[in-house]
Amino acid sequence: MRAAVVTSFNAAPQCQEFPTPVAGEGEMVVTVLASAIHPRVRSQADGSHYTSTDELPLVPGIDGVGRTAEGEVRYFILPDTALGAMAEQTLIDPRRSVVLPGDIDPVLIAAAMNPAMSSWIALRRRIDFTPGSRVLIMGATGNAGRMAVQVARRSGAGHIAVAGRNPHQLAQLASLGADAVIDLGCSETVAHELAAVGRDVDVVLDYLWGEWASKALYAIVPARDDDAQQLTWIQIGSITGPESPIPSAALRACNLRLIGSGQGSVSPHDIVTELPALATEVTSGEYDLPVRAVPLDDVTAAWEEAATTDTRLVLTP
Ligand SMILES: NC(=O)c1ccc[n+]([C@@H]2O[C@H](COP(=O)([O-])OP(=O)(O)OC[C@H]3O[C@@H](n4cnc5c(N)ncnc54)[C@H](OP(=O)(O)O)[C@@H]3O)[C@@H](O)[C@H]2O)c1
Repeated sequence: MRAAVVTSFNAAPQCQEFPTPVAGEGEMVVTVLASAIHPRVRSQADGSHYTSTDELPLVPGIDGVGRTAEGEVRYFILPDTALGAMAEQTLIDPRRSVVLPGDIDPVLIAAAMNPAMSSWIALRRRIDFTPGSRVLIMGATGNAGRMAVQVARRSGAGHIAVAGRNPHQLAQLASLGADAVIDLGCSETVAHELAAVGRDVDVVLDYLWGEWASKALYAIVPARDDDAQQLTWIQIGSITGPESPIPSAALRACNLRLIGSGQGSVSPHDIVTELPALATEVTSGEYDLPVRAVPLDDVTAAWEEAATTDTRLVLTP
């Protein structure tokens, strides 16, 4: 079969022949319909993800949509494996998949599930989200942040602030439901704006980490109106770096709760439990996400393009 194959962690995958999979115990072969190129897959393919096993050659792709031999359409999440979703066929564990309506758009599902899951799972599985809560999304200009604005709005957030460095994308987020916009590129105003939003924010969805988690906490903690009000900071992505120098006083000076959301902090069972509702949600027609299908044969060019485009690229074998 044809597959996107990584033979070096320093090079983009190439479409080439790869052994056709044979199902073992507890496994099922699916014909892949769609699999998205997203940051988690890129970190799998360059060996930098914390779950990387360094095994090569590797077919990337940690989730996707496939058709079973019985004709069911399933969204699946893969374990850490050298045979990922970016192939004509792959092996799934049916317990880590959900059956979708047969007429669902596989490209939309493949594009939307990973970025939407990041906030959906965080708000539903890592905290007890109260409608009316005030939310700040750090690093909101990517696909996950864009979906987070919409997930937060539809979850009943009382106020949504977004922070990012791309003014064009930030303007779009305002039209998707963001009430306040913070331009991280504007060094004269950013601390003041973070403080203004942070004085009564309840939940931070943080896709940036790195220097920005630290800078934001330095701005927000002294500005809190009520130090006893809980401020739940959910670490989700690390676009600006895997480490952040968090001031120790931040954890003493206000009711700050620092948690993360992702594979491991949420069990596979809990993630799978959320998938049917999430699939229904992202195909409700209420979400705006730029998506484009690309033939699997063009994976190398798509890989380069995905690093710069705002559109979520989805490989279709
Ligand atoms: N834990 C989870 O469950 C989970 C699930 C999905 C994703 N994630 C993580 O969430 C993060 C975002 O994913 P995504 O799908 O949204 O990725 P994406 O679509 O590639 O977006 C990343 C965005 O980051 C912005 N960015 C890059 N450098 C920046 C900087 N220095 N300051 C501010 N913004 C910057 C870019 O926007 P501009 O270039 O326009 O500024 C880009 O649009 C990734 O780290 C991903 O691994 C976590």
